[in-house]
Amino acid sequence: MGKKLILSGVQPTGNLHIGNYLGAIRNWVEDQEKYDNFFCVVDLHAITVPHNPATLATDTYTIAALYLACGIDLNYSTIFVQSHIAAHSELTWLLNCITPLNWLTDMIQFKEKAVKQGENVGTGLLDYPVLMAADILLYDADKVPVGEDQKQHLELTRDIAIRFNHQFGGGETILKLPEPLIKKEGARVMSLTDGTSKMSKSDPSELSRINLLDPPDAITKKIKRCKTDSVKGLEFDNPERPECHNLLTLYGLFSDKTKQDVTTECQEMGWGQFKPLLTETIIEALKPIQTKYKEVMDEQGYLESVLSEGRQKAGAIAHQTLAKVKTALGYSLPI
Ligand code: TRP
Repeated sequence: MGKKLILSGVQPTGNLHIGNYLGAIRNWVEDQEKYDNFFCVVDLHAITVPHNPATLATDTYTIAALYLACGIDLNYSTIFVQSHIAAHSELTWLLNCITPLNWLTDMIQFKEKAVKQGENVGTGLLDYPVLMAADILLYDADKVPVGEDQKQHLELTRDIAIRFNHQFGGGETILKLPEPLIKKEGARVMSLTDGTSKMSKSDPSELSRINLLDPPDAITKKIKRCKTDSVKGLEFDNPERPECHNLLTLYGLFSDKTKQDVTTECQEMGWGQFKPLLTETIIEALKPIQTKYKEVMDEQGYLESVLSEGRQKAGAIAHQTLAKVKTALGYSLPI
């Protein structure tokens, strides 16, 4: 039996932060030898909310380079850019036509984002999950690593595939049903300025997050200023102390220590002792990623060649699935 196929993606909106890393990319890297992996930069999703054309291309390259810098290994994984493969847009259109409108208006993330956009809600925002379904279904993905916030989109993907197979499959499975791959516990990283909300690219405060490419002085400053409390000693799991829980969790994740070890080490500490320790640990853990990132960016033409290879490999698979779908829908394919 061949390896199972994994597909996942990140949007090129802003820099990646340590929440993206610990919650997603680090897990992809850890498990990559077990699977055949496809990681894309979902730049078509990036324009579902107002975006800046001047930075879209460089942001896309940055994410691809960060995949490599974080340890995505081309022996096991393919890295590509969504917009480089036209089949993503084309399958989205075909799936749109079999997706009931109310499935999309019911999506929690759409409702939340639409409220934030106010007057300016584009059709693309509503259609976002169908594009995501196309990303996944094009590759016959077996498993899709997602966080809680994307589970509903994965269920929708399955519903669309079931509906398509039922209406057009003639008893055959044309589109494979993907399974979610839910992340390990403890990898939910919260904001540095509010321990009850998730660390997010869209938080207006830079102080709320640490980016993978932040230099040491920025990391030092952010941790110095992060929200804490005045209770003595440090502890996990006290609902009254979400910031304390989050910072200890970060320390454990970046130092590869268990919760038990972190508890023993830090329970007597005050913030004045813990903060420099956490700062040093994060700076050291990010150093190899930042060094590799610079190497990838400095080597003329390297990233382009990685993405061009990715495009060919992913494109060949996507093209086959698209052809199957079009045939099932009754299209005659051009010779
Ligand atoms: N919607 C995902 C997110 O914001 C990104 C994404 C797009 C994705 N297409 C995907 C994730 C396909 C997994 C598989 O996190």
